[in-house]
Amino acid sequence: MIRKTISIFLDKKQRKEKITMLTCYDYVTAKLISSQGIDVLLVGDSLGNVKLGYENTLSVTVDDMIYHTKSVNRGNDGALIVTDMPFMSYEICVEDSVRNAAKIVKEGGAQVVKIEGGVEIADRIKAISDAKIPVVGHLGLTPQSINKLGGFKVQGRTKKSYDKLIADAEKLEEAGVFAIVLEAIPEQLAKEITERLNIPTIGIGAGRYCDGQVLVVDDLLGMFTDFTPKFVKRYANLGETIKTAVKNYITEVKEGKFPQEKNIYR
Ligand code: KIV
Repeated sequence: MIRKTISIFLDKKQRKEKITMLTCYDYVTAKLISSQGIDVLLVGDSLGNVKLGYENTLSVTVDDMIYHTKSVNRGNDGALIVTDMPFMSYEICVEDSVRNAAKIVKEGGAQVVKIEGGVEIADRIKAISDAKIPVVGHLGLTPQSINKLGGFKVQGRTKKSYDKLIADAEKLEEAGVFAIVLEAIPEQLAKEITERLNIPTIGIGAGRYCDGQVLVVDDLLGMFTDFTPKFVKRYANLGETIKTAVKNYITEVKEGKFPQEKNIYR
């Protein structure tokens, strides 16, 4: 199996072809999604919400990220694997950030790491990049800053925050990121950032002009329904399909209709 490489980011931007990215946290889903030709599987720390049932992503550890990246890696057929660096795995110092990024690549098998934040983490992005690990940035609504942002709110709506996000994006490009995820910002701001940068932008709640799009796979499939942001489009309702299947199973077991002749050994 030949995996896509970071060259798809620039190639696709230059060819004006949209980059497709979905989050993914396990073997079975990786197999299903990568068989359809998705460009990038993002092992997002959103696994804290959708797989571990936490209220936010702050409790997710480097070991959680490695465990899920390994699982995705085994099911992946050809997509580029990007793994999130979780909260406090890069904030403390440059050395820590390089050590944790290396752990995620060496033990988990990720090809690229993703880090949330702007100008203030540029030194860490450069250090990780210098250690031969490609980095994707993440700006706008950065869920690891939830306590500082005061909730899951659209970012970049004031002049000050609009200008800061443009400055952040330019700084991240200079520091060496290969792409930037833009989350929950006005479409016009995402358009301006996308036009200013040579590297691609991947939007989630950032409108139509980004170079690519990403969604949380459990949102797209209708599996995670605790909360649904406005930017989500649900392409299936697997949650309901699962409930119906389990209900039917329980009924059939109770009524002695399962197992059937074809399910038993002679
Ligand atoms: O963790 C995640 O799923 C993400 C996406 C929302 C981009 O960072």
